[in-house]
Amino acid sequence: MRRPLVAGNWKMNGSRAEAREIVGGILTGLGRVSNAEVVVCPPFVLLAEVSTAIAGSLVELGAQNCSTERAGAFTGEVAVDMLADVGCRYVIVGHSERRALYGEADDTVAQKFEMVRKAGLVPILCVGEQLAEREASATEAVVARQLDAVLALAGIDALGQGVIAYEPVWAIGTGRTASPQQAQDVHAFIRGRIATHNPTVAAKMRILYGGSVKGSNAAELFAMPDVDGGLIGGASLNAREFLTICAAA
Ligand code: PGA
Repeated sequence: MRRPLVAGNWKMNGSRAEAREIVGGILTGLGRVSNAEVVVCPPFVLLAEVSTAIAGSLVELGAQNCSTERAGAFTGEVAVDMLADVGCRYVIVGHSERRALYGEADDTVAQKFEMVRKAGLVPILCVGEQLAEREASATEAVVARQLDAVLALAGIDALGQGVIAYEPVWAIGTGRTASPQQAQDVHAFIRGRIATHNPTVAAKMRILYGGSVKGSNAAELFAMPDVDGGLIGGASLNAREFLTICAAA
Protein backbone atom coordinates (compact mmCIF):
# COMPACT_ATOMS: atom_id res chain seq x y z
CA MET A 1 0.00 0.00 0.00
CA ARG A 2 1.27 3.45 -0.90
CA ARG A 3 0.42 6.09 1.67
CA PRO A 4 -0.93 9.17 -0.11
CA LEU A 5 1.08 12.36 0.19
CA VAL A 6 -0.19 15.92 -0.16
CA ALA A 7 2.49 18.61 -0.37
CA GLY A 8 1.78 22.33 -0.46
CA ASN A 9 4.18 24.31 -2.63
CA TRP A 10 3.82 27.90 -1.48
CA LYS A 11 6.19 29.14 -4.21
CA MET A 12 7.31 32.76 -3.61
CA ASN A 13 4.37 33.67 -1.37
CA GLY A 14 3.82 34.47 2.27
CA SER A 15 5.15 36.57 5.12
CA ARG A 16 5.98 35.24 8.58
CA ALA A 17 2.53 36.33 9.78
CA GLU A 18 0.81 34.63 6.83
CA ALA A 19 2.86 31.49 7.38
CA ARG A 20 1.73 31.32 11.00
CA GLU A 21 -1.86 31.82 9.92
CA ILE A 22 -1.81 29.14 7.21
CA VAL A 23 0.00 26.60 9.36
CA GLY A 24 -2.19 27.39 12.37
CA GLY A 25 -5.26 26.73 10.25
CA ILE A 26 -3.83 23.45 8.95
CA LEU A 27 -2.89 22.23 12.43
CA THR A 28 -6.28 23.08 13.89
CA GLY A 29 -8.18 21.42 11.06
CA LEU A 30 -5.99 18.37 10.63
CA GLY A 31 -6.36 17.09 14.17
CA ARG A 32 -4.42 14.07 15.34
CA VAL A 33 -4.89 11.64 12.47
CA SER A 34 -4.53 11.92 8.75
CA ASN A 35 -4.70 9.21 6.12
CA ALA A 36 -2.38 11.26 3.93
CA GLU A 37 1.11 12.40 4.79
CA VAL A 38 0.92 16.21 4.82
CA VAL A 39 3.88 18.41 3.86
CA VAL A 40 4.24 22.18 3.53
CA CYS A 41 7.00 23.74 1.41
CA PRO A 42 7.36 27.45 2.24
CA PRO A 43 10.05 29.75 0.83
CA PHE A 44 13.53 29.35 2.39
CA VAL A 45 13.25 32.35 4.73
CA LEU A 46 10.04 31.00 6.26
CA LEU A 47 11.32 27.47 6.89
CA ALA A 48 12.53 28.13 10.43
CA GLU A 49 9.27 29.85 11.38
CA VAL A 50 7.18 26.99 9.98
CA SER A 51 9.49 24.36 11.44
CA THR A 52 8.83 25.74 14.92
CA ALA A 53 5.10 26.01 14.30
CA ILE A 54 4.69 22.37 13.17
CA ALA A 55 6.99 20.81 15.78
CA GLY A 56 5.36 17.72 17.27
CA SER A 57 2.48 17.75 14.77
CA LEU A 58 1.63 15.48 11.84
CA VAL A 59 2.71 18.12 9.33
CA GLU A 60 6.16 17.78 7.78
CA LEU A 61 8.44 20.36 6.25
CA GLY A 62 9.76 20.59 2.71
CA ALA A 63 11.84 23.06 0.70
CA GLN A 64 11.25 24.13 -2.90
CA ASN A 65 14.80 23.84 -4.21
CA CYS A 66 18.41 23.36 -3.14
CA SER A 67 21.92 23.85 -4.42
CA THR A 68 23.86 21.23 -6.38
CA GLU A 69 26.80 22.07 -4.09
CA ARG A 70 27.46 21.05 -0.51
CA ALA A 71 28.80 24.34 0.90
CA GLY A 72 31.13 27.20 0.10
CA ALA A 73 31.39 30.19 -2.20
CA PHE A 74 28.01 29.96 -3.94
CA THR A 75 26.37 33.31 -3.22
CA GLY A 76 22.60 33.15 -3.00
CA GLU A 77 22.39 29.36 -2.89
CA VAL A 78 21.03 27.14 -0.10
CA ALA A 79 22.67 23.80 0.70
CA VAL A 80 20.71 20.68 1.47
CA ASP A 81 22.43 20.26 4.85
CA MET A 82 21.00 23.64 5.84
CA LEU A 83 17.56 22.39 4.88
CA ALA A 84 18.04 19.26 6.97
CA ASP A 85 19.29 21.38 9.86
CA VAL A 86 16.16 23.55 9.85
CA GLY A 87 13.93 20.47 9.93
CA CYS A 88 13.10 19.66 6.30
CA ARG A 89 12.27 16.10 5.36
CA TYR A 90 11.41 16.78 1.70
CA VAL A 91 12.92 18.92 -1.06
CA ILE A 92 11.20 19.62 -4.39
CA VAL A 93 13.62 19.29 -7.32
CA GLY A 94 13.07 20.14 -10.97
CA HIS A 95 9.85 22.09 -10.59
CA SER A 96 8.79 23.30 -14.03
CA GLU A 97 9.27 26.92 -12.95
CA ARG A 98 12.90 26.12 -12.08
CA ARG A 99 13.35 24.35 -15.40
CA ALA A 100 11.63 27.01 -17.54
CA LEU A 101 12.52 30.28 -15.76
CA TYR A 102 15.93 29.42 -14.30
CA GLY A 103 17.28 27.13 -16.98
CA GLU A 104 17.61 23.99 -14.87
CA ALA A 105 18.49 21.18 -17.23
CA ASP A 106 17.71 17.50 -16.69
CA ASP A 107 21.24 16.74 -15.48
CA THR A 108 21.17 19.60 -12.94
CA VAL A 109 17.87 18.29 -11.62
CA ALA A 110 19.38 14.81 -11.38
CA GLN A 111 22.33 16.22 -9.39
CA LYS A 112 19.93 17.94 -7.00
CA PHE A 113 17.95 14.72 -6.62
CA GLU A 114 21.12 12.92 -5.55
CA MET A 115 22.22 15.76 -3.28
CA VAL A 116 18.91 15.60 -1.41
CA ARG A 117 18.83 11.82 -1.20
CA LYS A 118 22.41 11.50 0.00
CA ALA A 119 21.67 14.01 2.76
CA GLY A 120 18.99 11.63 4.00
CA LEU A 121 16.07 13.76 2.81
CA VAL A 122 13.41 12.80 0.30
CA PRO A 123 13.50 14.44 -3.14
CA ILE A 124 10.17 15.21 -4.81
CA LEU A 125 11.10 15.02 -8.50
CA CYS A 126 8.83 17.07 -10.76
CA VAL A 127 8.30 16.01 -14.35
CA GLY A 128 5.84 17.19 -16.95
CA GLU A 129 5.33 18.44 -20.47
CA GLN A 130 4.63 21.88 -21.91
CA LEU A 131 1.38 22.47 -23.81
CA ALA A 132 3.13 22.40 -27.21
CA GLU A 133 4.72 19.08 -26.30
CA ARG A 134 1.35 17.57 -25.37
CA GLU A 135 -0.15 18.85 -28.60
CA ALA A 136 2.73 17.25 -30.50
CA SER A 137 2.00 13.95 -28.70
CA ALA A 138 5.41 14.19 -27.02
CA THR A 139 4.19 13.89 -23.40
CA GLU A 140 5.59 10.41 -22.83
CA ALA A 141 8.90 11.21 -24.54
CA VAL A 142 9.40 14.33 -22.38
CA VAL A 143 8.51 12.63 -19.12
CA ALA A 144 10.69 9.64 -20.02
CA ARG A 145 13.66 11.92 -20.75
CA GLN A 146 13.25 13.75 -17.42
CA LEU A 147 12.98 10.46 -15.54
CA ASP A 148 15.84 8.81 -17.39
CA ALA A 149 18.22 11.66 -16.47
CA VAL A 150 17.78 10.76 -12.80
CA LEU A 151 17.96 7.04 -13.49
CA ALA A 152 21.19 7.49 -15.44
CA LEU A 153 22.89 9.39 -12.63
CA ALA A 154 21.36 7.76 -9.57
CA GLY A 155 20.06 4.34 -10.58
CA ILE A 156 16.75 2.67 -9.89
CA ASP A 157 17.22 2.02 -6.16
CA ALA A 158 18.02 5.69 -5.59
CA LEU A 159 15.02 6.79 -7.63
CA GLY A 160 12.89 4.57 -5.43
CA GLN A 161 13.88 6.63 -2.38
CA GLY A 162 12.20 9.70 -3.82
CA VAL A 163 8.71 10.76 -4.77
CA ILE A 164 7.65 11.75 -8.29
CA ALA A 165 5.26 14.60 -9.07
CA TYR A 166 3.72 14.64 -12.53
CA GLU A 167 2.85 18.24 -13.29
CA PRO A 168 1.72 19.06 -16.82
CA VAL A 169 3.04 22.60 -17.28
CA TRP A 170 -0.16 23.72 -19.04
CA ALA A 171 -2.12 22.87 -15.89
CA ILE A 172 0.07 24.76 -13.41
CA GLY A 173 -1.52 27.92 -12.08
CA THR A 174 -3.88 28.05 -15.07
CA GLY A 175 -7.02 26.65 -13.50
CA ARG A 176 -6.92 24.07 -16.28
CA THR A 177 -6.52 20.71 -14.54
CA ALA A 178 -5.64 17.53 -16.37
CA SER A 179 -8.66 15.25 -16.42
CA PRO A 180 -8.40 12.30 -14.05
CA GLN A 181 -7.91 10.03 -17.05
CA GLN A 182 -5.17 12.24 -18.55
CA ALA A 183 -3.36 12.18 -15.21
CA GLN A 184 -3.84 8.44 -14.79
CA ASP A 185 -2.49 7.73 -18.28
CA VAL A 186 0.79 9.54 -17.60
CA HIS A 187 1.08 8.16 -14.06
CA ALA A 188 0.63 4.63 -15.42
CA PHE A 189 3.26 5.35 -18.06
CA ILE A 190 5.72 6.54 -15.40
CA ARG A 191 5.08 3.54 -13.18
CA GLY A 192 5.41 1.22 -16.17
CA ARG A 193 8.73 2.75 -17.15
CA ILE A 194 10.05 2.35 -13.60
CA ALA A 195 8.78 -1.24 -13.60
CA THR A 196 11.00 -2.10 -16.56
CA HIS A 197 13.93 -1.39 -14.21
CA ASN A 198 12.45 -2.84 -11.03
CA PRO A 199 8.80 -3.83 -10.51
CA THR A 200 9.08 -3.69 -6.72
CA VAL A 201 10.33 -0.10 -6.80
CA ALA A 202 7.54 0.77 -9.27
CA ALA A 203 4.85 -0.71 -7.04
CA LYS A 204 6.07 1.30 -4.05
CA MET A 205 6.77 4.58 -5.85
CA ARG A 206 4.50 7.44 -4.91
CA ILE A 207 3.49 9.49 -7.95
CA LEU A 208 1.74 12.77 -7.12
CA TYR A 209 -0.31 14.83 -9.53
CA GLY A 210 0.14 18.61 -9.63
CA GLY A 211 -1.51 21.38 -11.63
CA SER A 212 -4.56 23.36 -10.49
CA VAL A 213 -5.62 20.83 -7.85
CA LYS A 214 -8.39 22.30 -5.69
CA GLY A 215 -10.75 21.12 -3.02
CA SER A 216 -13.38 20.59 -5.68
CA ASN A 217 -11.36 18.33 -8.02
CA ALA A 218 -8.92 16.55 -5.68
CA ALA A 219 -11.12 13.55 -4.90
CA GLU A 220 -11.65 12.51 -8.53
CA LEU A 221 -7.92 12.85 -9.29
CA PHE A 222 -6.85 10.95 -6.17
CA ALA A 223 -9.35 8.19 -6.96
CA MET A 224 -7.27 7.13 -9.96
CA PRO A 225 -5.26 3.98 -9.24
CA ASP A 226 -1.82 5.44 -9.99
CA VAL A 227 -2.36 8.88 -8.44
CA ASP A 228 -0.91 8.82 -4.91
CA GLY A 229 -1.65 12.36 -3.79
CA GLY A 230 -0.84 15.83 -5.02
CA LEU A 231 1.61 18.69 -5.21
CA ILE A 232 -0.53 21.74 -4.57
CA GLY A 233 0.40 25.30 -5.51
CA GLY A 234 -2.18 28.08 -5.26
CA ALA A 235 -4.68 26.10 -3.19
CA SER A 236 -2.07 25.35 -0.52
CA LEU A 237 -2.04 29.01 0.56
CA ASN A 238 -5.54 28.66 1.96
CA ALA A 239 -5.70 26.35 4.99
CA ARG A 240 -9.34 25.37 4.44
CA GLU A 241 -8.84 24.54 0.78
CA PHE A 242 -5.64 22.65 1.53
CA LEU A 243 -7.37 20.64 4.27
CA THR A 244 -10.16 19.66 1.88
CA ILE A 245 -7.49 18.36 -0.50
CA CYS A 246 -5.74 16.47 2.33
CA ALA A 247 -9.05 14.89 3.34
CA ALA A 248 -9.62 13.74 -0.24
CA ALA A 249 -6.34 11.79 -0.25
P1 PGA B 1 -0.92 25.04 -8.92
O1 PGA B 1 0.64 24.73 -8.86
O2 PGA B 1 -1.61 24.09 -7.97
O3 PGA B 1 -1.06 26.47 -8.49
O4 PGA B 1 -1.36 24.81 -10.34
C1 PGA B 1 1.13 23.42 -8.73
C2 PGA B 1 2.63 23.42 -8.70
O5 PGA B 1 3.25 24.18 -9.45
O6 PGA B 1 3.26 22.66 -7.92
